[in-house]
Amino acid sequence: MADRWLIYGATGYTGQLVARLAVARGERPILAGRRGPAVAALAADLGLDHRVVDLADPAALRAALADVAVVAHCAGPFVDTSAPMVDACLATGTHYVDITGELDVFEALYARHDEAVAAGIVLLPGAGFDVVPTDCLAALLAASLPGAVSLELAFRAGGGMSPGTARTGLYVTAAGGRRRTGGVLRSTPFGVPSRIVAFPSGPRRVGAVPWGDLVSAYRSTGIGDITVYTSLPVRGRLGRLQAAATARLLRYAVPRALAARLIRRRVTGPSPQTRAATSIEVWGEVRTAGGETRSATLTGPNAYDLTADALLRAVARLRTGTVPPGAHTPSTALGADFVRELDGVSLSLPA
Ligand SMILES: NC(=O)c1ccc[n+]([C@@H]2O[C@H](COP(=O)([O-])OP(=O)(O)OC[C@H]3O[C@@H](n4cnc5c(N)ncnc54)[C@H](OP(=O)(O)O)[C@@H]3O)[C@@H](O)[C@H]2O)c1
Repeated sequence: MADRWLIYGATGYTGQLVARLAVARGERPILAGRRGPAVAALAADLGLDHRVVDLADPAALRAALADVAVVAHCAGPFVDTSAPMVDACLATGTHYVDITGELDVFEALYARHDEAVAAGIVLLPGAGFDVVPTDCLAALLAASLPGAVSLELAFRAGGGMSPGTARTGLYVTAAGGRRRTGGVLRSTPFGVPSRIVAFPSGPRRVGAVPWGDLVSAYRSTGIGDITVYTSLPVRGRLGRLQAAATARLLRYAVPRALAARLIRRRVTGPSPQTRAATSIEVWGEVRTAGGETRSATLTGPNAYDLTADALLRAVARLRTGTVPPGAHTPSTALGADFVRELDGVSLSLPA
C-alpha cells in the first residue's frame, strides 16, 4: 500500500489546524470531507490532493481509503462519525487515529480490538489533548507505584472551545456525570465529587467530569477507581441542580439541535493570538490501598495546538508500521513517554 495518509474533517476548526501544521512540517496529506467546495478550496490553498466522500456512503468511503495507510479522523462529534470510518478502515487495512474525548466512543473502539488485530490495523482514539497528556501521565504514575488502586486526574485548558468541542459537549453533558469505582463506570452528579488540586499555577477547586480517561486510563493502567476532574462553573447545590436540569433537557433531540445551531452561529474557536497566549495544565495522583501516593504535573501549550502536534506525531508513528495491531490508548500505542516528545510540554514527575 502507498504510504499516503488522509485527514477526514479537514475543513473543521481542528482539521484545518492539523492540515496547516502538516504542510508546515513538509507533509502532504490528502484532505477529505463531505462538502466538496470547502474541501477543494482548502486543498487548493494548501496545494494538496483532496477527496470528497460522505460517511453515509460505505462503498465510496472504502474507495477513498483504498490507497491510504493512515486516516487522521477529525470530524466529530465522534459518536456520529467514528463507526463508519472504522468499518471502512477494517475493510481497507488502513490504520485509524482520531481526536475523540467521548467515553462511549473509546468503549466502542476498544470493543473492536479483535477485529483490528485480524485486519492488521491500529485503532487509536483520543490522540489529541483528550487524552494524550492525561493518559501518558496516568501510565507513568502507575508504573511509578505498582499496586496502585486509585487514580485521580485533573486538567485545565485555557483559551475557549472550538465549534465541534462545544457541540460534542452537548452529548457529554446530556449523558451526565460519571466516575469509575471497582472497575465499573457509575453515574454521579455532574461536578461530584469535588476537591482542591495542586496545579503548577496553584491550588484550584475542581469537580468530576465524564472524561474519556475513565475508559482509556482503565485500559492503560488497569486501575479500577478513576476520577477525572476539571475546573467547573458549577458551584454549590444550586449549580448542581442547574447542571442536572440542563443535562435532562439535552437528552431530547430538539433542544440539542437548537443548541447545536446556536453553537454553529456563535462559536468560532480560539484565534491564533488566543491560542498563543493560553496553555494547559494537568495533575495526576495514584494511591495504593495502604495510602501511599505518587503525584505528578504537566504543563503545555494551548489544547488545540497540542492536539494538532500530538495527532501528527501519532500519524508518523503509525506510518512506521511499528505499533502492534489492535485497539490502543495513546500510551499503549506510542509509549507513556510519547507526551515528552510534544512541543512545549514539560513534566514534573516523582523521583
Ligand atoms: N481530543 C481533543 O482534545 C480534541 C481537540 C479538538 C477537537 N476535538 C474534537 O474534534 C471534533 C471536531 O472539532 P472541531 O471544533 O474541529 O469541529 P468543527 O470545526 O465543527 O468541524 C467539524 C468537522 O467535522 C465534519 N463533520 C461533522 N460531522 C460530520 C459527519 N457526520 N460526516 C462528515 N463530516 C462531518 C464537519 O464537516 P461539515 O462542515 O461538512 O459539517 C467539519 O469538517 C469534535 O468532536 C471535538 O470535540 C477533540
